[in-house]
Amino acid sequence: MTDSSGLQSGRPRSLSGIQATSDSLHLGNYIGALQQFVEQQETHDAFFFIANLHAITVDQDPAQLRERTLRTAAQFIGAGLDPQRSTLYVQSHIPAHTQLGWVLECTTGLGEAQRMTQFKDKSGKNEHVSLGLLTYPALMAADILLYQADVVPVGEDQRQHLEMTRNLAERFNHRYGDTFTVPEAHILKSTAKVYDLQDPTAKMSKSAQTPAGLIEILDDAKSITKKIKSAVTDAGTEVTYDPEGKPGVSNLLTIHSALSGRSIEDIVAEFEGRMYGHLKVALAEVVVETLRPLRERTLELLDDPAELARVLDAGAETAGAIAERTIADVYDRVGFLTR
Ligand code: TRP
Repeated sequence: MTDSSGLQSGRPRSLSGIQATSDSLHLGNYIGALQQFVEQQETHDAFFFIANLHAITVDQDPAQLRERTLRTAAQFIGAGLDPQRSTLYVQSHIPAHTQLGWVLECTTGLGEAQRMTQFKDKSGKNEHVSLGLLTYPALMAADILLYQADVVPVGEDQRQHLEMTRNLAERFNHRYGDTFTVPEAHILKSTAKVYDLQDPTAKMSKSAQTPAGLIEILDDAKSITKKIKSAVTDAGTEVTYDPEGKPGVSNLLTIHSALSGRSIEDIVAEFEGRMYGHLKVALAEVVVETLRPLRERTLELLDDPAELARVLDAGAETAGAIAERTIADVYDRVGFLTR
């Protein structure tokens, strides 16, 4: 049941965002986040958005950003996020994100922002450091607090930003009266961490050394099979799960288990007395069959930009109505005149 606020009564609200900074999400994103987002929509009033405002904290090519925003949205839906059940939108479509972002920047201490490890990492790596990179977590807090989210599923790397979001919510509530729900972080299961197929000691990431190490969720069957067959394995021939001693084979087992839903022990038992090659053949089939429908739905959507635009407009409509109510309340509390 949905009431006038768009709130599905009785269900806690869950919200998360993802940056659109690649053409295709990879298997690590799928297992680490998307698969779990899809599960969340069964139990939560779920909000998911493409964080394109955050994307420009580092340099982006405009045409590429536009294209990647659409591709990421299409992959969300392709992976099973259902716009009928979840609210799916693009961050920049809702002006209240930047409006609340500003108020929260003014609620954040400079030292507090400078202590964020993601800021320290990124500002160390980039030659040109934008102010946006520093204020990034205030905008992220705005993304969350605008919707009064109860839980925020994110990777371990975002834990500190969530902690800051909670602090900002509490600080604001204390100063101006109860305004925001203080959200809980839901740190996504890291048991299914996926590693690079060519370097199984490095996390699967879009900045992989070689594209062969990375399975993109829009890869076709042929290239998936080829990448898995050429995955680096370890000395020996016996299929055992030993992340320290046999990172390559263990990674293949992890991926299999995450996608097939079977336990690692069960898979190891199946390959007892058989070679790595057999595991690779079986795994390629599991990955291809899992990604096939996802890829087909995504490509279909990308072929129908009008339909995709309609879905994102509808999401912005629902999200915008909630966000506007929150920002009106916030503006009133901080003492801005109404027109
Ligand atoms: N910072 C997040 C990341 O890089 C993306 C993000 C932006 C986000 N706003 C958010 C995640 C709000 C959760 C909630 O992964």
